[in-house]
Amino acid sequence: MISGRSHLSASFSSLRRSTPFRLAVTFGVLFVVTFFLSGAIIYHMLDLGLSRDLEQSLTEMNSLIVSTYEPSDTGDLANTLNNYASFQSTSDGLYSLTDHAGNKLAGNFAAPPIPNGVYTVSSRDVGLKGHERYRMRVSTIGPYSLVVAENFNDVDEMLRIVLVSFEWAGAIVVATAIGGGVFLAVRAQARLDRVALTMNEVSHGALDARIPISGRGDDLDTVAIQINAALGRLQTLVESMRQVSADIAHDLKTPLNRLRLTLDAAVAGNDRQADVSALLDEARSESDRINATFEALLRISQIEAGARKERFEPTDLDAVLAVISEVYADVAEDAQKSLTITARCPAIIHGDRDLLTQLIANLVENAINHCPDGTDIAIALRCRGGRAILSVADTGPGIPAGEREKVFRRLYRLDKSRTTPGSGLGLSLVKAIAELHAAEISMADNHPGLIVSIGFPLSPAERS
Ligand SMILES: Nc1ncnc2c1ncn2[C@@H]1O[C@H](COP(=O)(O)OP(=O)(O)OP(=O)(O)O)[C@@H](O)[C@H]1O
Ligand SMILES: [Mg+2]
Repeated sequence: MISGRSHLSASFSSLRRSTPFRLAVTFGVLFVVTFFLSGAIIYHMLDLGLSRDLEQSLTEMNSLIVSTYEPSDTGDLANTLNNYASFQSTSDGLYSLTDHAGNKLAGNFAAPPIPNGVYTVSSRDVGLKGHERYRMRVSTIGPYSLVVAENFNDVDEMLRIVLVSFEWAGAIVVATAIGGGVFLAVRAQARLDRVALTMNEVSHGALDARIPISGRGDDLDTVAIQINAALGRLQTLVESMRQVSADIAHDLKTPLNRLRLTLDAAVAGNDRQADVSALLDEARSESDRINATFEALLRISQIEAGARKERFEPTDLDAVLAVISEVYADVAEDAQKSLTITARCPAIIHGDRDLLTQLIANLVENAINHCPDGTDIAIALRCRGGRAILSVADTGPGIPAGEREKVFRRLYRLDKSRTTPGSGLGLSLVKAIAELHAAEISMADNHPGLIVSIGFPLSPAERS
């Protein structure tokens, strides 16, 4: 029981600290204050209106009585007054006609001497019993003093009814504000709790945990969708990192084993006093290759992290192609391939010249390394729709459609390429460089061969 109560008070105190609850309370208080303020204004206006009506009725009564007065016949006036007085008790209305000496001539009470005017008085003020409140008008008719008064009972009753109705309405408003506020706060808090729970699961390694979407399309849903998208990206990144680590461990195992065997052979040869210089040279080349793979991996990570963006400047792709032509024309020829370059537009893009050269070089080297003798390699550059489209095509064996996504992964190589030199990082680097330049990359069948196209956004000046 005690633990149940302490659990309840703990959840209430956490609810009290929550933003939805505070918002609900703030709006509830504002709502109630506004309600009571407008109620007070209505009550005051009603009071004024009813008092004005009472005053008007007194004035009319007074005029009516005065109209019956004729200086020659005071009896008529006294009779009219006594008539009115006979219809009403003193608790409803007061009538009095007195002469200048204060003697009562007619009416239902003897008014004390009071100067002319309009007053609010109590029964006791005018020498009567009870606790009535009256609005009283004192005026002079000829040599007499006329007093007409009406009590506030009707006004007070009306105001009392309004006040009671108002109190009930106020109670309902307060209950609705508190109930509604708590309901909304608890509901919003429950959704925030689910966000916190999901983040907790993620921090404990469940990267596939996602925040449930209510489907209402409100701001919490929008935030949840964005967090889920970020979690999705995080999951992909972590999985690809895991994949890369596994690939590195797997792919470097063979060269490291090879290095170990070569060194073992060298040690054994050395023990036999044999010449081991050839084995040591082989070990050195193997360790150079391992080193190059690590360097390439680091370079890709660095590019993916966006570190090279600071070196971006307007870069002419034509000039980059000129360098490629200069370097690879002979290399392609030596490898029994033909290389043609066609640039159909002056394309200036915002980028890193060295990285862009590396990108094209990797694609050309792939065509040289993975295609048979006699392959034609064609590099083309054209501009369309605000983009500079660079393509590298060959007439070699191409890449099957099912493998075109995979070859961009780090260390991924087609089975048939296992015997050719390379580490499977060239296309990963191409993809990282393209993404750094906000370029779209696609691979298609060149019938026969492979065509890789990259669409770079042109510098704004070039688009016009
Ligand atoms: N033009 C091409 N024609 C046929 N296959 C290709 C072509 N380009 C790439 N490939 C295939 O895609 C794989 C991945 O290419 P990638 O450039 O990433 O690595 P690599 O060329 O094997 O090694 P590295 O570029 O690191 O020296 C290659 O191993 C090869 O099987
Ligand atoms: Mg390559």
